[in-house]
Amino acid sequence: METPLAVAPASLSRPLVDSYARRVDYIRISVTDRCDFRCVYCMSENMNFLPKQDLLTLEELERLSAAFVVRGVRKIRLTGGEPLVRRNVMQLFHGLSRLFDKGLEELTLTTNGSQLVRYAAELAACGVRRVNVSLDTLKPEKFRAITRWGDLGQVLAGIDAAQQAGLKVKINCVALKGENEDEFLPLVEWAHGRGADVSFIEAMPLGEDAVHNIESFLPLDAVTAALSQRLTLTPSTHVSGGPARYFDVAETGGRVGLITPLSQHFCDSCNRVRVTCTGTLYTCLGQEDKTDLRAPLRAARDDEALHAALDDAMRRKPRGHDFVAQWAGALAPAKRPMSMTGG
Ligand code: 5AD
Ligand code: SF4
Repeated sequence: METPLAVAPASLSRPLVDSYARRVDYIRISVTDRCDFRCVYCMSENMNFLPKQDLLTLEELERLSAAFVVRGVRKIRLTGGEPLVRRNVMQLFHGLSRLFDKGLEELTLTTNGSQLVRYAAELAACGVRRVNVSLDTLKPEKFRAITRWGDLGQVLAGIDAAQQAGLKVKINCVALKGENEDEFLPLVEWAHGRGADVSFIEAMPLGEDAVHNIESFLPLDAVTAALSQRLTLTPSTHVSGGPARYFDVAETGGRVGLITPLSQHFCDSCNRVRVTCTGTLYTCLGQEDKTDLRAPLRAARDDEALHAALDDAMRRKPRGHDFVAQWAGALAPAKRPMSMTGG
């Protein structure tokens, strides 16, 4: 007798589409809320971190990711906190690399770069092709002031290691009024000089000290103005599947991205959701709407309850964030820092 073909129930292969017809094919998963830095726009100096039992285990993170890939997710970005400070995180990367056979197209991470010297080669071996490294300044003292605990030399060595391992590096720089305003041009020249693109990000009113971010907010016109003093920027046709708008730089052959959640928001084409290290799914960075995935993950060995929770979350994905109203003081800013929801 022939064995009948196993057919996945329709609900399990259904793509994730929200009530505004936006298809979610990109997830960002925070694998830890911990970090070895304390960036002023992200964390306070004395953070309270989550107890270990609240975190999804590495096995649960892998199972959750596999379920998302079944639902059509093509790109997974691991974030934190700092993803590379999670104990045994490479076990997770190895596990996720098996999803390339199941439809996953890209596995990547956002990192502060502090552990790249140690892990770059192994990341490349797991199929990681690109990394985003956060770097707001090239001045060692300023770097220490912004990250509080970070060491610029270690991060620069990490960037070298990543490039040597064949990883494409993109620099993420948060534009901060009065803090790194004078460095936009040198940062781009430095990065492009070594084959790395740069994206600038507006400070978002998130976290314990959202007020600091509101005070240091700098619309990214300031970035284009500074760069245009020496460089020729032309709007690029490049699309990364993310929220950045890109410019090609004639003199360097590199690219500059602008991520402007406040001054020009991009919610209409939002294709992503975020999962925290405790398995809470946030369908929007700036909204409180959330769905617990840890309970359904832990309730049963099969994924039925999990898929039902995903369907429910998709129905509730908000149309957009409220950063501008929060900024104007009309709404309370989200207390949740970037390190919780995943950058
Ligand atoms: N606003 C803008 N960017 C932020 N990041 C962390 N917190 C904020 C914030 N409040 C950045 C980090 C990193 C990326 C993950 O998000 O610097 O580049
Ligand atoms: Fe750590 Fe990134 Fe937050 Fe800085 S912004 S404290 S590097 S998680």
